[in-house]
Amino acid sequence: MKYIALLGRLPKLSLAELESQFTGVKMTEGRGGGLETPLVAEFESETVPEIGRLGGVLKLAERLGKFPEALGFLEGLPEGKITLGVSDLRPGASGFKAQGEALKLKKILQRRGRSVRVLSNKTAVLSTATSHHNQLAEKPNHVEILITKDGYYKLTGVQNITEYAKRDQARPARDAKVGMLPPKLAQILINLCGPLPENAILLDPFCGTGVVLQEAFIMGYTPYGTDLEPRMVEYSKKNMKWLVERLSKIDVKYFFDKSYIAEGDATSYCWDRSFDAVACEAFLGQPMSQPPAEIKLKQEKERCKTIILGFLKNLSGQARTGTPVVVAVPAWLRENGEYSRLNILDEVEKLGYNVVKFRNSRQDDLLYYREGQIVAREIIVLRKK
Ligand SMILES: C[S@@+](CC[C@H](N)C(=O)[O-])C[C@H]1O[C@@H](n2cnc3c(N)ncnc32)[C@H](O)[C@@H]1O
Repeated sequence: MKYIALLGRLPKLSLAELESQFTGVKMTEGRGGGLETPLVAEFESETVPEIGRLGGVLKLAERLGKFPEALGFLEGLPEGKITLGVSDLRPGASGFKAQGEALKLKKILQRRGRSVRVLSNKTAVLSTATSHHNQLAEKPNHVEILITKDGYYKLTGVQNITEYAKRDQARPARDAKVGMLPPKLAQILINLCGPLPENAILLDPFCGTGVVLQEAFIMGYTPYGTDLEPRMVEYSKKNMKWLVERLSKIDVKYFFDKSYIAEGDATSYCWDRSFDAVACEAFLGQPMSQPPAEIKLKQEKERCKTIILGFLKNLSGQARTGTPVVVAVPAWLRENGEYSRLNILDEVEKLGYNVVKFRNSRQDDLLYYREGQIVAREIIVLRKK
């Protein structure tokens, strides 16, 4: 089946996420990220992809075909009133034109005796909030048609903003200094490991408050976390317990028998349980609200580099060949608006890893930051040699 994905705020990072999970990924439309000028990627999947596990994707839609044949889907909708939204992704599209397309479809359906409510288009592409609140991917008679220059698509999933916010804000143990990893980014890190079998054991050796562990659990993997700080280990355990109780029918005791969260220094720890993949946000140095002075930047870089390379060296002796290792490392915003990076890839290769290359994104694109954020995360994607 052919699908399209509307990519989020950092589209090249989202493209790398898609490329790690699906075949035939290529960019088709748009220029920027987000929905005003969405960047659209095409890909193939044998099963309907789950939007809830793709942190970088705003909407997913399945190909219906070209104009008259695509109508078969609308005509086949169950009896009753249809709620219809249209997103026009073609170059030069506007809210007005998209509304015109929606009214054209409405007329055709009305001629066939169907009653249709059309959602109004303030913009060419309906916002995720509009699609989500109108349940356009959930209710059988609520639909969104997406039009590209190649044809028509039907919405199969829209990012559940409410659920992400809930997971992010309701966790019982939080720490402003370390626990700010957004769940969406945790999912991206996990997906960059590539397809993993169900119940695969995913290790986070810098688990902090456990956001990666929690997302791994939601995605059907077995979390395995370690952290230097006993307080963080307790936070991770508390948050995992809360999540297991809230989301699953699994007994908490059974969960903690199977998964494992322990104290350990990532530069020297011996992980005594086997693991299939590693995804983590490593030590990022001090939180900052101003770009650091040159001398401070140098110190922070050295400190982070020592810990991260020390960790990768220690891991290299313990990970099996082919193990995916995805690490978010710090990059610092400078006065000139550029991010200064650790530039450790050559050293990492010497420690026994291959750096994964993506077809649609360069290493420079694998940067996660919010506007004006001083400490950004650069994502490095490795495979143990
Ligand atoms: C940026 S935080 C990770 C936060 C985490 N992603 C979360 O969800 O809360 C980095 C973590 O690395 C831990 N850390 C620092 N040095 C370490 C080391 N040498 N070995 C293991 N953990 C370390 C810190 O205690 C902190 O929890």
